[in-house]
Amino acid sequence: MELKFLVKKEAPYVYIHGSGCSKDIWIHQVSEVGGYAIDLPGHGESPDDEKISTVEDYAKYVVDFISKKVKKAYVIGHSLGGAVAQMTYLLAKESVLGLVLVGSGARLRVLPEILWGFKNDFKNTAYKSNDLLFYEGFNNKDVRDKILRQILNSGSKICFRDFNACDKFDLLEKYKKGEIKIDVPMLCIVGDKDVLTPPKYAYFFGDVVGARVEVIKNAGHMVMLEKPEEVNGVLIDFLK
Ligand code: COA
Repeated sequence: MELKFLVKKEAPYVYIHGSGCSKDIWIHQVSEVGGYAIDLPGHGESPDDEKISTVEDYAKYVVDFISKKVKKAYVIGHSLGGAVAQMTYLLAKESVLGLVLVGSGARLRVLPEILWGFKNDFKNTAYKSNDLLFYEGFNNKDVRDKILRQILNSGSKICFRDFNACDKFDLLEKYKKGEIKIDVPMLCIVGDKDVLTPPKYAYFFGDVVGARVEVIKNAGHMVMLEKPEEVNGVLIDFLK
């Protein structure tokens, strides 16, 4: 199965969205920085693969996309997409030029009520989780509504699958013990007001694998949409 993607300027950068979202979250980065933003299976315009249940299952599709499209790429992932980026590196180091994790972590435990809600009380949970995604001072209603629509369009089954995959994703101890080493340049970007993946998760990568950490002021979990200019500036500086 071929993944659908968004590209405006060709470049060896592959962007991976987070739980219940789509390639459209990267619109500002694809336009200014360049590269390919993909829809993971079952998201946006990509058909689903019912066999998917883990981060590794998603990562296999990213490995395949890179090998067909650009051979080698910087892999840039948000939240669940950051977990998929790490797994892409572990599955196919030779295909990865560098890693950028945006609002992500080495472990992504999910609040049990969010997990339960995506399965059993989908619409209310979608609305509630949308509030947690943005810094309260971010007033762009259009952007907030767009993300809510993406989550509602993804539906209960896909959202539960994504958050469940996050909840099971846990490389924390392996990094701590030095069993995982990152031998490519690595950047972590996080909003200082991110309540879902707080800056602590990014600093962890600074400590254990020497990643560069950039904390963006007055931004939440959707930092690439909340502060596109700052995020693009950091990305361009890292990728140059
Ligand atoms: N990087 C570094 N440290 C991490 C980490 C990460 N990715 N994930 C957890 N930790 C740390 C915690 O900060 C905590 O440290 P502390 O003991 O010094 O306070 C410790 O590891 C244990 O954390 P965790 O396993 O997450 O258990 P918890 O009981 O602290 O919390 C949740 C469980 C679900 C309540 C919590 O993870 C949470 O609030 N998550 C954010 C909400 C959410 O749903 N996010 C969605 C992510 S996609």
